[in-house]
Amino acid sequence: MFLWQYLSLLLLITVHVCKAQDCDEFTDLDLSHAIIGTSLKTRLLLYTRENATCGKLLSHTNLTANPKLNLSRPTTFVIHGYRPTGSPPAWLDKTVQLLLEREDLNLIVVDWNYGAANVNYFKAVENTHKAADNLTAFIELMRKEGVSLSSIHMIGVSLGAHISGFVGANLMGDIGRITALDPAGPQFTGTGPDERLDSKDAQFVDVLHTDIDSLGFREPLGHIDFYANGGTDQPGCPKTIFSGGSYFKCDHQRSVLLYLDSVNQTCTIKAFPCASYKDFLDGNCLSCERFGAAGCPVFGHDVIRWKDVLLKLRQTKSFFTTNGVSPFCMTNYRVEVVIWNEDVRWGYITVKLHGNDGEAVATIDHTAAKFQKFTETRLFAHFNKDIQLVKKVSLTFSTGNVFKPKYKLRILRVRLTHLEREERPLCRYDILLKENKEVTFRPILCEESNF
Ligand SMILES: *[C@@H]1O[C@H](CO)[C@@H](O)[C@H](O)[C@H]1NC(C)=O
Ligand SMILES: *[C@@H]1O[C@H](CO)[C@@H](O)[C@H](O)[C@H]1NC(C)=O
Ligand SMILES: *[C@@H]1O[C@H](CO)[C@@H](O)[C@H](O)[C@H]1NC(C)=O
Ligand SMILES: *[C@@H]1O[C@H](CO)[C@@H](O)[C@H](O)[C@H]1NC(C)=O
Ligand SMILES: *[C@@H]1O[C@H](CO)[C@@H](O)[C@H](O)[C@H]1NC(C)=O
Repeated sequence: MFLWQYLSLLLLITVHVCKAQDCDEFTDLDLSHAIIGTSLKTRLLLYTRENATCGKLLSHTNLTANPKLNLSRPTTFVIHGYRPTGSPPAWLDKTVQLLLEREDLNLIVVDWNYGAANVNYFKAVENTHKAADNLTAFIELMRKEGVSLSSIHMIGVSLGAHISGFVGANLMGDIGRITALDPAGPQFTGTGPDERLDSKDAQFVDVLHTDIDSLGFREPLGHIDFYANGGTDQPGCPKTIFSGGSYFKCDHQRSVLLYLDSVNQTCTIKAFPCASYKDFLDGNCLSCERFGAAGCPVFGHDVIRWKDVLLKLRQTKSFFTTNGVSPFCMTNYRVEVVIWNEDVRWGYITVKLHGNDGEAVATIDHTAAKFQKFTETRLFAHFNKDIQLVKKVSLTFSTGNVFKPKYKLRILRVRLTHLEREERPLCRYDILLKENKEVTFRPILCEESNF
């Protein structure tokens, strides 16, 4: 008798402890669901700093039912996109963890996997409006409880970006911020602003494009639109279908990884406002004067600091390049070359920087540069890492032409200017570059006078 009592008590305690640890998970479906099709459910999973790995399903009707939802804190919604195979997004856990590390939030993952998992993309697109209406009702409830819409941030990936837009439009654009990570293109390209995300959907809309030639949206949609590596092919992603399964989604998914780097403050990516990627690569958009002391806007989570000036400019297209893996940020230099060859030379320059902390390389080869006697040629160099103190510089000149005779570049002066650090440019006067032969030298601080 005593034993039974003891055991049931133990059982009760065990059940109680288990209950406290009970977490709700993102819906995990498989390909069979995606083939048969499932009907939309909109599940809201709350995560807080108390336990960033334990989600709690929220009630759609009773906000006080979950005591962890603290309406005096700002709220961020994370909204995934199309899930062709029904699996949970691979980036979800890291996103939750990094956002909560950065800010004390109600982080709500909008799990509409039942509506997004379908081999038929059009079905998922159909469900975006329904998911948005459901989410709108929830936010209306928050508003009734006294939450200010400006304290709400929605981060939408792919189709999730348009869902954010629909919610924002339902709420008359009063939501504080929408961040769109590679908003979906197919079925949205060419539609009017009511049928997709646009800059009127929130007080501030920032957009990242990483796959405009396939799954993403090409045209600008927000107050600021960032085009990583021009928005098409991302470094480190397979270039052909034969390179493996990630071919279809690598460029698209890169948008989330880039954003997470910015949340984690892994390193800063400065983006340069420009009319086109070509102009950007040509170094025609290096001036950040119109942004005053703050300089050009940075990409990602912290672009909100440029909100006021970006709203005034109404729409800004901005460009940056990245590495193929995290840390994604590159280090930008302006490289100016003056030659004294009699004839015009066309070609490519590779620059290497050497320091105690290693070596950084930049190859300027998007187009052949023109070098002309006593005329300054301005190049824009993106290095894979930042060298704190440059001890030596190597230069290589090439024309990319195998059959022509080897050319020489008679350099009168080369000047390297770090674009993020305030420091004296590095110079070297009078060097001869033979084609495809690397020349290494110690740079000196440039003379103050502009030559
Ligand atoms: C939103 O979706 C959930 C789950 O699918 C449902 O229980 C709830 O009633 C919906 N809310 C509205 C306003 O339709
Ligand atoms: C958070 O939740 C996880 C999953 O249930 C659990 O294993 C872990 O012990 C919890 N951590 C804290 C600090 O409560
Ligand atoms: C909401 O949930 C709380 C806590 O569980 C409960 O006390 C309250 O009665 C619920 N309100 C409604 C309207 O169901
Ligand atoms: C809710 O959040 C606010 C602001 O962070 C904090 O001051 C307050 O103590 C929190 N309330 C509860 C019940 O945790
Ligand atoms: C966050 O950034 C730090 C460097 O500041 C890095 O060591 C760490 O790996 C990053 N974490 C993630 C999850 O990316």
